[in-house]
Amino acid sequence: MNRSNIVLIGFMGAGKSSVGKLLADKLGWTFIDTDLRIEKQQQQKILSMFQEHGEAYFRQLESQAIEEVLNGQEQIIATGGGAVLAEHNRQLMLAGGYVVALKAEPEVIVRRVRSDQSRPLLQGDLEEKVHNIMEQRKHAYDFAHTVIDTSELTTEEIANLIIDQIRTSS
Ligand code: S3P
Repeated sequence: MNRSNIVLIGFMGAGKSSVGKLLADKLGWTFIDTDLRIEKQQQQKILSMFQEHGEAYFRQLESQAIEEVLNGQEQIIATGGGAVLAEHNRQLMLAGGYVVALKAEPEVIVRRVRSDQSRPLLQGDLEEKVHNIMEQRKHAYDFAHTVIDTSELTTEEIANLIIDQIRTSS
């Protein structure tokens, strides 16, 4: 298994960015958030990218970002919740790093994402959107090397758990 990067996957609000930043601090590795990288490159927010160009356009940029980033090493890579939908992305992630899926109960996700209006797929009825998309993606994150249910854990506990796992996994 390739442990030169840690790739965090999971539904929106699963904690990929907050855990990723802490993990990067603890390991002295570089933190990369693929969504922020795309926004910076395109000089446009993801919400307006979706509105102006559509989801497929964003997915293309996302795949490109994943491919570029995975060429590097010693990085904690927080991916967007839908990055796992493309088989090619999944293969790149598995080949380029240790893939950790962060999970959380739907109510926990709703609570965590409620104050952030920037997610294009969660515009409108939040509870309904979260439940529907979670249902559609219920097995989408199963390909990870490891899965952590973050519902009742602090960011610190999750980061420590991941560090323990990479140190003990063969
Ligand atoms: C998406 C998740 C978002 C972002 C985009 C689409 C998704 O990232 O990539 O809005 O399809 O689940 P976060 O998981 O960081 O919210």
